[in-house]
Amino acid sequence: DWTPDSFIEETVEFIKEKVGSDKVVLGLSGGVDSTVAAVLLNKAIGKNLYCIFVNNGLLRKNEFENVLNQYEGMGLNVKGVDASGRFLEALKGIEDPELKRKAIGNAFIEVFDDEAHKIEDVTWLAQGTIYPDVIESVSATGGPSATIKSHHNVGGLPDFMKLKIVEPLRAIFKDEVRRVGRSLGIDPELLGRHPFPGPGLGIRILGDITAEKVRILQEVDHIFIKGLKEWGLYDDVWQAGAMLLPVNSVGVMGDERTYEKCVALRAVESTDGMTADWVNLPYEFLQKISNDIINKVKGVNRVVYDISSKPPATIEWE
Ligand code: XMP
Repeated sequence: DWTPDSFIEETVEFIKEKVGSDKVVLGLSGGVDSTVAAVLLNKAIGKNLYCIFVNNGLLRKNEFENVLNQYEGMGLNVKGVDASGRFLEALKGIEDPELKRKAIGNAFIEVFDDEAHKIEDVTWLAQGTIYPDVIESVSATGGPSATIKSHHNVGGLPDFMKLKIVEPLRAIFKDEVRRVGRSLGIDPELLGRHPFPGPGLGIRILGDITAEKVRILQEVDHIFIKGLKEWGLYDDVWQAGAMLLPVNSVGVMGDERTYEKCVALRAVESTDGMTADWVNLPYEFLQKISNDIINKVKGVNRVVYDISSKPPATIEWE
């Protein structure tokens, strides 16, 4: 019978045997899969595991600092790399969603490759690939590893792609990953986090991306997610976030007419992200959140709620 503890025991043995005293590099994303993979590898090989956590400047508000602290507290050998400027520079002026994704994916590969080169004699790349990623071939939800996979055909292989691959979670499903994580003593809040796309807020800002737009969306998203937690709604929702629209509309403030940004809130129920239904959040909650956003976030004067299901509407607006 499969149990988290037997899985952990067998996997730690498997990693020890496979990797021996070699060095392994792994990209952490702040998500469940890469974190559980890292803790398993850490248990097996300790300091020979080198984790890299990249700030692409498109993470949630305070996410980089918070998650990095959390990783350090877990005893992981992790290096935080703040590459926000590099990503923003690469994205400058790009409006097309596919080109934005490419720019983000390529910047990630460059940064990761640079960092991997600094680790002397590293011979393995670990990934948090789970079973559904394996069957889908191109993963939609795998964070850094998915980014790498979907871009490995761009302009020749970066050096870290020549590393041998170790994927300790490739035979198990998401709910099993969470159970393993619980058994490993990982913070339940981290294990219960909503999925968050590798390109981050970059696919929730429609049109070109600027530092100011990222700041606005981080504030809006923060109010929405914090509200979901305070109202006890967070765990009823599979994924939630906010989209910054390339639309200004008129509003009034005192005697003045304003012409400012509109944001769309999105919350969905789903099991795997392939199909999704919008969540019937209470009107009182939406009213409170809308007021908070408009009162506190400078530059936003209108909030709408997305009531479209997937298909045909996707979860992200891009
Ligand atoms: P869509 O928008 O296609 O999203 O309905 C389905 C799920 O996939 C996530 N998503 C991504 N995850 N890298 C990721 O790691 C990506 O490039 C990416 N694009 C979409 C999305 O957040 C949702 O959970």
